[in-house]
Amino acid sequence: MKEQKIKLMQMLTTAVKGLDNLETLVPVVRQLGARHIGYGVKPEHYGTVAAALLWTLERGLGDAFTPETKEAWVVVYGILAATMQEGAASGAAAGA
Ligand code: HEM
Repeated sequence: MKEQKIKLMQMLTTAVKGLDNLETLVPVVRQLGARHIGYGVKPEHYGTVAAALLWTLERGLGDAFTPETKEAWVVVYGILAATMQEGAASGAAAGA
């Protein structure tokens, strides 16, 4: 779980930094989604992870977790999850 948390946060950092460079980011996120099929991840699991992420951010950031900050995370996570599921559904391969 410890390693898993690091991987998730590294990917989220990459995603947030890549928001201004979507052409590069989207294929990487689609491939990530396709790999998640092999990890046994189903579309409904994305909501569970979203809830866990928001819960963690709320407790970690305290007062800094303003409604605007929460909304920004909801939007970014939603785009990531949708792009991953799109990649999973289309069987995005490396380089696709
Ligand atoms: C925005 C959402 C998510 C992001 C950014 C994310 C990111 C990652 C990354 C970067 C990895 C490392 C392996 C790789 O690059 O292929 C990984 C692995 C994994 N993820 Fe996710 N993930 C997300 C959602 C989920 C969800 C919804 C589940 C299911 C509850 C999940 C379960 C797993 C599992 C089981 C692994 C493999 C662990 C291992 O064997 O090392 N992930 N994820």
